[in-house]
Amino acid sequence: MQALDLRRLRESDASAFREIRSEGLRLHPDAFGASFAEEQSQPLERVADRLENGHVMAAVADDAIAGVVGLAGSRAEKTRHIGLIWGLYVRPSWRRSGVARRLLETVISDAMLVRPQPWMSDLRSLRICVEANNRAAIDLYEALGFTAWAVEKQALLVGDHFHDEIHMRLDFSPQNR
Ligand SMILES: CC(C)(COP(=O)(O)OP(=O)(O)OC[C@H]1O[C@@H](n2cnc3c(N)ncnc32)[C@H](O)[C@@H]1OP(=O)(O)O)[C@@H](O)C(=O)NCCC(=O)NCCS
Repeated sequence: MQALDLRRLRESDASAFREIRSEGLRLHPDAFGASFAEEQSQPLERVADRLENGHVMAAVADDAIAGVVGLAGSRAEKTRHIGLIWGLYVRPSWRRSGVARRLLETVISDAMLVRPQPWMSDLRSLRICVEANNRAAIDLYEALGFTAWAVEKQALLVGDHFHDEIHMRLDFSPQNR
């Protein structure tokens, strides 16, 4: 197994990010709220802007991206305490080697402790949505301290099939605020 570095993706990574994001959306349409077709039609500048102004971490080996995860925050006064984790995806050949766990531990640490971006300073809670049958992801989130707080019935319609989603959250303890 090659060594992996974790780094934040920037606008110059837009093409590589779009490639791995498209792969995830295409191979696992049930796992994500976004659709492959919708994201394919986005101009690359929009992808670049999302990276430069957001917070997307990648696990990288020899310049190839093995996995990604995003952290988004709200700028709105009443919801800027909530961060949203999105788009967790690890390429099949890298699975079961702790890549997703490392990516999540890094964004959780960024949100709770390191706070490398100004908009993270008010974060108090992280949220994540997961398709209700995605046992691998649910087990991982629970292992990292996330708890389920709601089930949204028929949250996604993929083709002809509805999918429920579980909403999970990780609230920061007072000493970490
Ligand atoms: C879910 C996913 C991100 C896991 O990535 P990964 O790098 O293989 O996960 P890790 O190796 O870090 O595993 C961490 C934990 O997740 C759970 N897990 C991961 N894959 C699993 C599997 N196939 N079956 C059961 N549990 C699994 C286990 O609890 C594991 O801990 P363990 O290795 O101590 O048993 C990956 O399978 C993936 O990209 N799936 C498709 C997209 C997706 O479902 N994204 C989540 C959207 S909410």
